[in-house]
Amino acid sequence: MTTFQAPKGTYDLIPPESATYLAVREAISAPLQRAGYGYIETPGFESVELFSRGVGESTDIVTKEMYTLTTKGGDELALRPEGTASVLRAALENNLHRVGNLPVKLWYSGSYYRYERPQAGRYRHFSQVGAEAIGAEDPALDAELIILAVDAYRSLGLRDFRLLLNSLGDKECRPVYRAALQDFLRGLELDEDTRARIEINPLRVLDDKREAVQKQLAGAPMMRDHLCEACKAYHEQVRDLLSAAGVAYEDDPKLVRGLDYYTRTTFEFVHDGLGSQSAVGGGGRYDGLSEMIGGPALPSVGWALGVDRTVLALKAEGVELELPSATQVFAVPLGEEARRALFGVVTELRRAGVATDFAYGGKGLKNAMKSANRSGARYALVAGERDLAEGVVQLKDLETGEQSPVALDRIVEELRAKAR
Ligand code: HAM
Repeated sequence: MTTFQAPKGTYDLIPPESATYLAVREAISAPLQRAGYGYIETPGFESVELFSRGVGESTDIVTKEMYTLTTKGGDELALRPEGTASVLRAALENNLHRVGNLPVKLWYSGSYYRYERPQAGRYRHFSQVGAEAIGAEDPALDAELIILAVDAYRSLGLRDFRLLLNSLGDKECRPVYRAALQDFLRGLELDEDTRARIEINPLRVLDDKREAVQKQLAGAPMMRDHLCEACKAYHEQVRDLLSAAGVAYEDDPKLVRGLDYYTRTTFEFVHDGLGSQSAVGGGGRYDGLSEMIGGPALPSVGWALGVDRTVLALKAEGVELELPSATQVFAVPLGEEARRALFGVVTELRRAGVATDFAYGGKGLKNAMKSANRSGARYALVAGERDLAEGVVQLKDLETGEQSPVALDRIVEELRAKAR
């Protein structure tokens, strides 16, 4: 019979490593929750058109990487390649922007799908935690989001990450810059694909990884020299606020993101231990996206951090998260009567908030104690018929090896105190 494997570019999250993923998601969302961001969950798929209009018709994500499908009813859907367009769609549809109180601040956590060439750190199914602040143009909001991401990375114990910062201008100054860049690029010796890109998405050419291309790009006009006064002032304020918060950044005038909706502030977090897929997170301002998907003008800013790559970054730095042991107490019954009595104690302990597991399957003492040790529990509860007759259970400290009888009717209280 055939056995099945996870599809190419995907992997299973399994214990014990999966606990690290959960902890990373929690660590990223905790600062957001402390800053007034509310949780939002949107469907795993959306209309294809939301992404082609939102993320951009000429981006790799839309032209090459979307998982699209036609439903039996004839709807054209795509598995979501990113979260921003969906979250904004949901905010508009649910009138969150009308209930007053802009910006609408939302965070999310979930799976995203891109048909990319799989390699270390790049998957076809990956996981992001993201945040979007919708409906306000305020440099403090850009700074807030960046600071919250930095605080999240720091709370995990990461150190070798860097923040790259740029401004992509707005609808006043970007078209002028775009034309200037196109003029420059048209004069270079470039292959056909790249020439085509000059006409559709010239800023992406700056991002070309090939050395021969990068050499020719010396002297290319840069957005930062073409920013209008308003964009320049805005960017200065973001930078000042970051510095005041003790957040170091590197100006990267060539930072162009792979999604078309960005305006003004753009940023990426890169980790130096990850090789070529070094971006652990990224984001920026997207003042025009709402109008691009049929909404009112709602200047907004957000980011998404990659959970898979953050876990890889932790590994690269050798950071071990201090995860609470999944099991604190492990109960080992010897005999049928003890099984019933101890199972009752296990249920009570769990209800009292003590993480407890049980030796299922009628194992002998030796095997059951092995399971107890493997579970990571600090304490084992062992009871046989003689213990029960005396109204006690044996409480064994698996760290010190000490064992002593405790009255059955006191055991929950005693373990609750110890587990605290
Ligand atoms: P993005 O830069 O495409 O931005 O993705 C954000 C992060 O998701 C990346 O920095 C990376 O860590 C992770 N990521 C992306 N693709 C993959 C992949 N194939 N495998 C593993 N990890 C991956 C966005 O998605 C924007 N929606 C961010 C944003 C929110 N901008 C404004 N608001």
